[in-house]
Amino acid sequence: MAAPAVRRADFLMTLAYATDLATGHSRDFALRSCVLAMRLAEVAGLDELTRRSVYHQALLRYIGCNADTHLLSAAFGDEIALRRDLQRIDIGNKPELAETIVRALKRTFADLPPEELAKAVERGLSEAMQVSVPILAGHCEVAERIAERIGLSKEIRENLGQLYERWDGKGLPRGLSGNAVKLPVRLVTLAQDAIALTEAHGYETMTTMIANRAGGAYEKELAGLFIAHSERLLAGLEEPVDRETILALEPTPHAMLEEEACEESYLAIADMIDMRMPSTFGHSRAVAALADAAGKKAGLPASDIRSVRWAAYTHDIGELAIPVSIWMRAGALTERETDAARLHPYHGERALASLGGEGKAIAALVLRHHERLDGSGYHRYARGSDLSPAARVLAADEAFQTAREARPYRAALSDTAAAAKLRSAVKDGKLCADAVEAVLTCAGQPGRRATAERLAGLTPREIEVLRLIAAGHTAKEAARLLEIAPKTADNHIQSLYSKIGVSTRAAAALYALERGMIEHGTSAA
Ligand SMILES: [Fe+2]
Ligand SMILES: [Fe+2]
Repeated sequence: MAAPAVRRADFLMTLAYATDLATGHSRDFALRSCVLAMRLAEVAGLDELTRRSVYHQALLRYIGCNADTHLLSAAFGDEIALRRDLQRIDIGNKPELAETIVRALKRTFADLPPEELAKAVERGLSEAMQVSVPILAGHCEVAERIAERIGLSKEIRENLGQLYERWDGKGLPRGLSGNAVKLPVRLVTLAQDAIALTEAHGYETMTTMIANRAGGAYEKELAGLFIAHSERLLAGLEEPVDRETILALEPTPHAMLEEEACEESYLAIADMIDMRMPSTFGHSRAVAALADAAGKKAGLPASDIRSVRWAAYTHDIGELAIPVSIWMRAGALTERETDAARLHPYHGERALASLGGEGKAIAALVLRHHERLDGSGYHRYARGSDLSPAARVLAADEAFQTAREARPYRAALSDTAAAAKLRSAVKDGKLCADAVEAVLTCAGQPGRRATAERLAGLTPREIEVLRLIAAGHTAKEAARLLEIAPKTADNHIQSLYSKIGVSTRAAAALYALERGMIEHGTSAA
């Protein structure tokens, strides 16, 4: 039986929830900003098409921001805290920006002795732009590609590619100014800043700050219009916004996703989750491929196989709530960090809660993907009676796939060792024997591999280079691993970028992910 069609707006809300977590925004921030932006669009008398763009820009502004999070984290530490701090300042104001970056650097290097700390902060500050600009350019390009995969129009995609641009040209990475920054982008930036500034400083201060930035960060007329109506525009927006409100705000026609489009949208979410750091590249795709095969092997009904596959694509969406530095730590986590990490299935369920129909079944599986039959899993310590056959397959599948992938704190297990680990968990009463056997039987099946025709005419060497840089290696490291000159590696990179039509490393990595080219064991971290 085909899956019932789903409103695309429901998918947008899932993405909005996930990006709120990843960017340190408050609960329902993107949803509330959508309501505010649509009210402002109405006051401004914008036409239906522009309002449609505003709607999507507000919900999806940050969908590209998971790309290269490990680089951001390596430079500035806790990226979620940094993003939260940046929301409260005028990033066009150099002293304010420098102060925020220094604060992040001091947090990152707090363990160093004072002299070394001062040097690390000085160096970090001087390299901040050089580090950030390519990362932000990658966010823009990845946002456009994810938007394309969920079927959004060219206009909406282009707006998403301008998310950090500003009216006065002090935005990044292109420094566009005036009307070159699209109206929906300008309007949503203003609306989102208004909410973030109200939360940080209160209503009165927010209006003063918006007025001060008129003609700078924001177009004067738009800022004036906002201030003139601000009380009415913001009414009720300190409270969470429900799904029906967002569905009702979507300008017509309301896009519906049939099963195939749902599959692609879930897959786009999987890639968005996995591209935060090299060690998880391709993880959700691999879990989904194995879940599908194991679900069939275990004789699950067709609708359960679909649910378990879609749950597998999204199972770690809640991980976005936890800074990458925690996931990438080679040493042990503190108790508090462990508690936060173990809550990711809860956040996952919340992110998927807006999906109607089959979404409930998917959310229920995501919630249980780390639970064990004997109650030793997390985060609800559920037991066997609460774990459906589909939940057991997903738990076994996820455990096996994770064991055979490397993590910063441990090496990958061989398939044989991972299988032994799962069988021992069966013996201990943690994992379901039937589910484990189904997973292990299927585990030998070859994954999806790209064919030469599908790879835009890349040469074998370019494919090797692409795999390495997608896995997080720098051009220099790729050159060393392939035993070629750095200049040659650079040439391969330029050539393959132009063949696959991208201009940033992050977009090239997404291209490789989309085609199943990531091989575990090649990651840089
Ligand atoms: Fe996982
Ligand atoms: Fe997980």
